[in-house]
Amino acid sequence: MPSPGPGPLSLVPFVSVADMMALVNGIGAERFLVELAAYIEADFRRWHMFEKTPRLATHSKEGVIELMPTSDGVEFGFKFVNGHPLNTRDGRQTVTAFGMLANVRDGYPVLLSEMTILTALRTAATSALAAKYLAPKGSRTMAVIGNGAQCEFQVLAIRALCGIDTVRLYDIDARATEKAAHNLAGSGISVVACASSQEAVEQADIITTCTADKRNATILTDNMIGSGVHINAIGGDCPGKTELHRDILLRSDIFVEYEPQTRGEGEIQQLDPGHAVTELWQVIAGQAAGRRDAGQITIFDSVGFAIEDFSALRCVRDQLARIGQPSKLDLLADPDDPRDLFGMLRRAAQTAGAAE
Ligand SMILES: NC(=O)c1ccc[n+]([C@@H]2O[C@H](COP(=O)([O-])OP(=O)(O)OC[C@H]3O[C@@H](n4cnc5c(N)ncnc54)[C@H](O)[C@@H]3O)[C@@H](O)[C@H]2O)c1
Repeated sequence: MPSPGPGPLSLVPFVSVADMMALVNGIGAERFLVELAAYIEADFRRWHMFEKTPRLATHSKEGVIELMPTSDGVEFGFKFVNGHPLNTRDGRQTVTAFGMLANVRDGYPVLLSEMTILTALRTAATSALAAKYLAPKGSRTMAVIGNGAQCEFQVLAIRALCGIDTVRLYDIDARATEKAAHNLAGSGISVVACASSQEAVEQADIITTCTADKRNATILTDNMIGSGVHINAIGGDCPGKTELHRDILLRSDIFVEYEPQTRGEGEIQQLDPGHAVTELWQVIAGQAAGRRDAGQITIFDSVGFAIEDFSALRCVRDQLARIGQPSKLDLLADPDDPRDLFGMLRRAAQTAGAAE
């Protein structure tokens, strides 16, 4: 006797890594980034509708594992994500992730997705959104310090949303810079490999730091930062893990995602807890000023917030039709009688016994 198959409610759409790559490559990374940024922008505009909490983090000496939940009252989303800066030494990623979207109405998951690629895309889309509102008008040159997994996504998103034409790259490991330069060749962006952070930030209108190191590092010192630049500080995203010298923060206007989370995780952990910052959604919703003048230094102190992942999952869910029939996982038990879960288990044992 064949074993019983999944019931009609068992199957949950599943986006594998292969599916995600087909989805993104199908429309092109830059177009995907633009569409994703629009979802994040729309959700930031309705910020008040979301349930918000700092993420739950489990720290170890090697890294961190985090759960990032949020809900808009209609759907619930969460992401599992890690951050282990030494992982690349044995072939593992620094950051891996997966996540889920569920109906609030009945609690049933509607999408399970890989989110390692999606996190790089959403982090880049959020940085580009911040730069769209905060970077100097007519920005043409970007510097990226830290040329690992996030780097090319950051460059393409800023080009797509802000129109830069040149990127200056620096990494302590020259192989990372070579990798990024190779991947960006043919993109139409002029790529300059630099020998130091100092050299990379020269003439840059937008500076992105995305290094991985589990300590208070000083990737940028005060003397490197002239007036009028915008900084996306991506890599400082955990207690005791920062990238900018404190003096830069003191000369800048600082924009964050969700202040209660960023106080403990972002660059601003170096500042007095009362130091004024602005949440980015306020600028996007027209409730706070962004860049006021050409000389101002603006910093987007990015740590990554659950609403961005929720937006990313919504975006993927709405685009699934583009990859045809999505895969489905037999994830949810679906007994004929919802209260007869044990009966379903017992019948499966009987069916398996009869088949032997
Ligand atoms: N803010 C967010 O939403 C967000 C999202 C994803 C990742 N991150 C963080 O971004 C950082 C980068 O992530 P990744 O996946 O690209 O990591 P990765 O390990 O792939 O790349 C990091 C790169 O930084 C380089 N590096 C380390 N110290 C440096 C230094 N002093 N100067 C120049 N380069 C240096 C390394 O050689 C490596 O190439 C991590 O710290 C990660 O936690 C933040």
